[in-house]
Amino acid sequence: MDKIKSLPGANRLIRHFKIHGVPMALASNSSTANIESKISYHKGWKECFSVIIGSDEVSKGKPFPDIFLEAAKRLNKDPADCLVIEDSLPGVLAGKAAGTKVIVVPSLPKQTHLYTSADEVVNSLLDIRPEKWGLPPFQDWIENTLPIDPWRIGGPVIKGFGRGSKVLGIPTANLSTKDYADELVEHPSGVYFGWAGLATRGVFKMVMSIGWNPYFNNTEKTIEPWLLHDFTEDFYGEELRLLIVGYIRPEANFPSLESLVAKIHEDREVAEKALDLPSYAEFKDDPYLTKL
Ligand SMILES: Cc1cc2nc3c(=O)[nH]c(=O)nc-3n(C[C@H](O)[C@H](O)[C@H](O)COP(=O)(O)O)c2cc1C
Repeated sequence: MDKIKSLPGANRLIRHFKIHGVPMALASNSSTANIESKISYHKGWKECFSVIIGSDEVSKGKPFPDIFLEAAKRLNKDPADCLVIEDSLPGVLAGKAAGTKVIVVPSLPKQTHLYTSADEVVNSLLDIRPEKWGLPPFQDWIENTLPIDPWRIGGPVIKGFGRGSKVLGIPTANLSTKDYADELVEHPSGVYFGWAGLATRGVFKMVMSIGWNPYFNNTEKTIEPWLLHDFTEDFYGEELRLLIVGYIRPEANFPSLESLVAKIHEDREVAEKALDLPSYAEFKDDPYLTKL
């Protein structure tokens, strides 16, 4: 069986609940043998779950409630006191039918509207706030930013749809997504920040969005870094390197262009301040940025 990559934030979430003694069950429509085989690729995960249950152990799989009712029973919990984290519609329906609270991280992008029965739809596992559900909060956010495993991407600067500087007054130096198709699928859309290196100009602070720009409802996922420096001329075609070190928020829709612009400026302030913190500042001298 192929190795199954975990979703960004999955390891963090599982370890967090484990460390805080929150009992967890893994309930899947796969067979128990299949789950055991998949989970064996992720070191330490199996031990984090008090219960592992596959659809072969109940008479009806998701969207029927049986699997979550059985999981709650084995955890010795009332379903009403359980929180289900799902990625599929049958799973959401099963959780609600069992009487649990349900958060969904839709596995397909731009499908939020299909999940209205969930208690909360989040864009990625990074956006789960356990305290909303009476669970211990994450402690790893620093000044409104979440450190991530550094991600390095680069390429020539391309033109976007031209709205950045004209409509918004926010000139983004877009990167082509063609070399990053697989990585982009794995990386949740959202607002990130880090450092940007330009071949002839140096290294600059950077705040960026990755995604479909819900306000403009793009059909393509784009990479749009805003280099936090007043450049006097365009640099389309120049080699740009990005070292992305932290996450700020999911992309959002806004009631007006002004509110979108105001939020992006708020992101800028968050990023500028955070990048002065030693844990983020240290990446500024990374050879990926300076030796291009
Ligand atoms: C830091 C940052 C945050 C952004 N956040 C959002 C967002 O939440 N929602 C959205 O629709 N677009 C967001 N955008 C994207 C802008 O709408 C986008 O950069 C603008 O449409 C310019 O697009 P263009 O370069 O393709 O012309 C963000 C951009 C940046 C740089």
